[in-house]
Amino acid sequence: MENNNTRRNFLKQTAILSTGTIIGSSLFNSAFANETELKIENKNSASEIINAAAGIYSLPKLAYAYDALEPHIDKATMEIHHGKHHQAYVTNLNKALETLDEKLVDDSKSLESIFEKMSKFPESIRNNGGGHYNHSLFWTLLKPNGGGNPKGKLAEAITSAFGTFDEFKKQFSDASMKRFGSGWAWLVVQDGKLVIGSTANQDNPLMRLRGKGLKGKPVLALDVWEHAYYLKNQNRRADYIASFWNVVNWDEAEKLFNS
Ligand SMILES: [Fe+2]
Repeated sequence: MENNNTRRNFLKQTAILSTGTIIGSSLFNSAFANETELKIENKNSASEIINAAAGIYSLPKLAYAYDALEPHIDKATMEIHHGKHHQAYVTNLNKALETLDEKLVDDSKSLESIFEKMSKFPESIRNNGGGHYNHSLFWTLLKPNGGGNPKGKLAEAITSAFGTFDEFKKQFSDASMKRFGSGWAWLVVQDGKLVIGSTANQDNPLMRLRGKGLKGKPVLALDVWEHAYYLKNQNRRADYIASFWNVVNWDEAEKLFNS
């Protein structure tokens, strides 16, 4: 009964139904781009919506086909990574949100606002909220016929921070290689400067957690969980990182940097 009340009140406060593809830097402007925020006025509506939508967050559509990143990232990996792994984070995030203490949820209208108070939330929200957010961002930072060099202000900032683009690539690749176990490599803006680092599991630089760790606004992200490359590259993470540079969407990274 208590759980039902919590769930009903949470949905009454804010229900967000995803309706389309997540594209670009608007990821940082609200809960998620192209999502429709619905204020639910009564429990019947909430019930109808949660039954219809199977939750609050949903799997974003990709802007490209599963095989579009071939030969650099293979179709089978993309199918499983997006359709199974990412979907599992979405499903489990929605389950975890249903049972949240409503005191925590009151001010939490987006994943970003949850990340700001991350240490107050349970592991299930941290892991699955991070998983959904990080992957949603990651897909936008890939594109067919990507790669090459960044342009504009981002290119200038990279040169300023790291000396050369090649040196930046080397340091980002090193951070990706050295992340022990599962995690993510990041390029972030921290105190006005570009910084490279990595996080464990599904943590990200927006999460306010106890202790040290990478903090900042993400500009570039690379998933280095084995599920991101094992089918094609097996244990050769370095090969996967080398492939990544051929499909990076620098236009999107620049939008994030400029936002
Ligand atoms: Fe992943």
